[in-house]
Amino acid sequence: MIGTDLSIAKQQLVSGELVAIPTETVYGLAANALSASAVAKIFAAKDRPSFDPLIVHTNAWERVEQWVQDVPALAHQLAAAFMPGPLTLLLPKKQVIPDLVTAGLPRVGIRLPRHPMTQSLLATLDFPVAAPSANPFGYISPTTAQHVNDQLGANVSYILDGGPCQVGVESTIVSFEEGEVVVLRKGGTPIERIEALIGPVQVKAYSTSNPTAPGMLKSHYAPRIPFLLGNKEDLIEEHAGKKVGVLAFRESIPHQDVLFQQILSPTGDLSEAAQRLFAAMREMDQMDLDLIIAEYLPEEGLGRAINDRLRRAAAL
Ligand code: TXA
Ligand code: MG
Repeated sequence: MIGTDLSIAKQQLVSGELVAIPTETVYGLAANALSASAVAKIFAAKDRPSFDPLIVHTNAWERVEQWVQDVPALAHQLAAAFMPGPLTLLLPKKQVIPDLVTAGLPRVGIRLPRHPMTQSLLATLDFPVAAPSANPFGYISPTTAQHVNDQLGANVSYILDGGPCQVGVESTIVSFEEGEVVVLRKGGTPIERIEALIGPVQVKAYSTSNPTAPGMLKSHYAPRIPFLLGNKEDLIEEHAGKKVGVLAFRESIPHQDVLFQQILSPTGDLSEAAQRLFAAMREMDQMDLDLIIAEYLPEEGLGRAINDRLRRAAAL
């Protein structure tokens, strides 16, 4: 059921059931993070392997000391600057967080979403919620309540509808290694903004072989239809005669062999492009196409997170 009733959402979570929640990045599939049996339902509903850890969400930074320890000063600094917002910090977990949440890893991802509806919900709960993106494992993340309903509607007790997600790509994930900040997933908080605050950071966002590293199986965010990434003119020529859809940044191309084109932002606005990315990919995936051809966006700001998602969709 889709709705906007916070008391139903709360009641379901308190009962150990799954509720889809809106966040500013993508919709999450939430359960009581302190209950291993509730969390187990997330893995089942998504068909997600249990080696892939979950992010824990709450409404206020002051609350997190109940669940994590040894919080580095840099984490407090990042939290003060960017939370609530599209940032996840990996911090040493206390025992109260079930091992299932972290896939047995010593650290837990902590995130404070900025969406007002979800903030209100989280404020009324006396536990945090574990929530991965509310899509079947490996598929494109949902940015509307309807996206969630289309694929997981039968597996969740309630879908809280907070409208389309404002940011549109997942949170930036950061860990702390030997006093340094390491970005493990490029996301809604641009690396440039983090670096403006604390200086240069390491980016290790491409490790795709080790599935316990965040992000980050190589093939992820993947449409059903073959998804190719590169120079769109060359790719279109290579695939002449096929039913081609194009996912472009700002300009459409006049081309008789292209059946459909999605323009992410005619004005070249990276925030708008991020906002529309996953819905555009979903829409094309439902069309009668042989393949989707996408082009890289500028490798700056949110463009870095978008390019990361495009590469994973193309399994590059
Ligand atoms: O924006 C977001 O982060 C969204 C919304 C719903 O909050 N959530 C999200 O969760 O994207 P998910 O599960 O789809 O992606 C989280 C990634 C996973 O790839 C996981 O491997 C990594 O974060 N991760 C989570 N906890 C981790 C940990 N303790 N250590 C290493 N990686 C972790
Ligand atoms: Mg996900």
